Amino acid sequence: IKVALLAGGTSGEREISLQSGKGAGEALRAAGFSVTEFDPANSEDLVELIRGSFDVAFLCLHGKHGEDGTMQGFLETINLPYTGPGVWSSATAIDKAKAKVHYIEDGITTPQSVTLRSANEMSAEEIIQKLGNHVVVKPATEGSALGVSIVEGAEELQKAIDADFEMDNKVVVETYVSGTELTVAVLGNANPKALPVIEIVPQLGEFYDFESKYAAGGSDHICPARLSEDLTQKVQQTALAAHKALNCRGVSRTDIILGEDGTCWVLETNTIPGMTATSLLPDAARVAGMDFPQLCTKLIELALE
Ligand code: DAL
Ligand code: MG
Repeated sequence: IKVALLAGGTSGEREISLQSGKGAGEALRAAGFSVTEFDPANSEDLVELIRGSFDVAFLCLHGKHGEDGTMQGFLETINLPYTGPGVWSSATAIDKAKAKVHYIEDGITTPQSVTLRSANEMSAEEIIQKLGNHVVVKPATEGSALGVSIVEGAEELQKAIDADFEMDNKVVVETYVSGTELTVAVLGNANPKALPVIEIVPQLGEFYDFESKYAAGGSDHICPARLSEDLTQKVQQTALAAHKALNCRGVSRTDIILGEDGTCWVLETNTIPGMTATSLLPDAARVAGMDFPQLCTKLIELALE
């Protein structure tokens, strides 16, 4: 099987994507695949993808123009199977505001929010009246917690909103929910299954921010998470429900806050989870008895199914 490995791209997560590509590239070669690496930031690479005779594209692109359905649409057009969710799922999951609409429709709990299309669409005071004083501000379509801030009060809120409009044309503000940060990967097409739950304990930042995610020692991953059997099942069911609400295939990884009262708050679903050496999906797969090469093989099998 000839694999075209796509990593790099032009999003704010380019560097992470290159690291994912490195991790997955080594794992794919160890699994015996012939791998050619492409960076969609170079147009010649795209031409080569069209001309080449590859069997499958292995996507390690994160964020805009990679995880958001655009690359998936390109690959559909040139009839090259690819790992992970399809066009609609990718485009919907990348948009934190639109993903919420589908979670809510399927009865999945997600923090209350407002979506802004301009910095002065609603005053900070009005937002606080609706969501409370303690809120999280996020660009609607970035990943790796880029531009995410937890703020209190109107002044901080307005600053965070203004800053996020520098990076996106849509901003989501949601009520801050406290609890344990968890993430659950789901694998499969027609019969998806949840992998073991990972508990994230940030060591650097106040939450699992960019630095905690990627700096060495930035966070501890505890897998399986320190939860009762009942709660573990509830969290896994929630991740499966999110995967299905967004019509995902192949793989997804849903980020969840488990409140003290047992509420599973879904924050978002990642359709191309990180594949770096410190990433969460390879960790969870390992606990499920699948090493990194086996995980990559599984993703390819699902892409070709
Ligand atoms: N967006 C990063 C890569 C992740 O979800 O793992
Ligand atoms: Mg994300």
